[in-house]
Amino acid sequence: MQRLLTGLQPSGALHIGNYFGALKPFVDLYGDYESSLLVVDYHALTTLKNPEELRQNIVNVVKDYLAVGVDPKRATIFKQSDVPEHTELAWIFETLVTVPFLMQAHAYKDKVAKGLEANAGLFNYPMLMAADILLYDIDVVPVGADQRQHIEYAREAAAKFNETFGETFKEPKERILESVATVPGTDGQKMSKSYGNTIPLFGTKDEIAKAVMSIVTDSSGESPEHVYNIHSLFKERGELGALYKANKGNYKASKEALVEDIEATVAPMRERRESISDDEVRTVLAEGAEKARERASKKMTEVRKKIGVMI
Ligand code: ADP
Ligand code: TRP
Repeated sequence: MQRLLTGLQPSGALHIGNYFGALKPFVDLYGDYESSLLVVDYHALTTLKNPEELRQNIVNVVKDYLAVGVDPKRATIFKQSDVPEHTELAWIFETLVTVPFLMQAHAYKDKVAKGLEANAGLFNYPMLMAADILLYDIDVVPVGADQRQHIEYAREAAAKFNETFGETFKEPKERILESVATVPGTDGQKMSKSYGNTIPLFGTKDEIAKAVMSIVTDSSGESPEHVYNIHSLFKERGELGALYKANKGNYKASKEALVEDIEATVAPMRERRESISDDEVRTVLAEGAEKARERASKKMTEVRKKIGVMI
């Protein structure tokens, strides 16, 4: 059976870009694979230094995973920090790739351009992500388009290691659905937790409405492009055409219709989410960590032997 894995950072509330770019594709695929779903808390530490907030975000992200329909019996749900082999392997990869190579990372450059601190963790981020994937011999990684290069970096880390120390790691492939590759945020840029332009997936209806009303519209056009693009995730383009024609020039009406359509998709999941307790989250993570550790420690023993630190 082929292996599938994806991960999300617990750096804030998940948004509809995370849902359509990564979570929904995972949910649609995971039954046909041996699947793992990761909470990448050490990645989140590159931007979030508030322990209380991090703890809360971790619990919330796992609740989100369960609410969108991931069954912890059919997917290993775990957090990165519970399996120290991830950071260990990342270090080894960091010794194999060069600084100029990492400097080409779009995600790093974009984040620094947006004013995030250029800490060394943020810079080395792709090698920790490579470790997340390569430790488990993953075949397929469902992600949004912004992560394409990171998966290439993971392949490069695998190739470098294999070339240097002998065949050890499988080269993974990304799975990017072109229709939802980059969900725009309220400002028309890529929606991202770190850019403050999100529509929360599990916000209250009021929070969702507030975000939708703030979507930037271009007054020169007849149809509000950003509103339409987000709307097309929730409704067939055929139906939308008529709606936007009827609402021509009336952006508020189109935004109100969008709020209702988001609500129709999210409400049943939100209801499910409310029934999930913090204790259930702890149990899911503990069981997931145990399974992941077993696999990771086997792989790392092989790695330690190959690089020559086991005497
Ligand atoms: P964020 O940028 O909000 O911090 P993450 O980096 O944690 O989100 O991304 C988690 C997953 O969600 C990744 O697979 C990423 O590609 C996907 N994703 C994030 N933002 C978007 C977006 N605007 N459109 C499509 N996919 C996205
Ligand atoms: N870098 C990814 C993001 O920002 C999150 C991530 C970390 C990830 N490790 C992963 C995604 C492994 C897929 C597989 O979206």
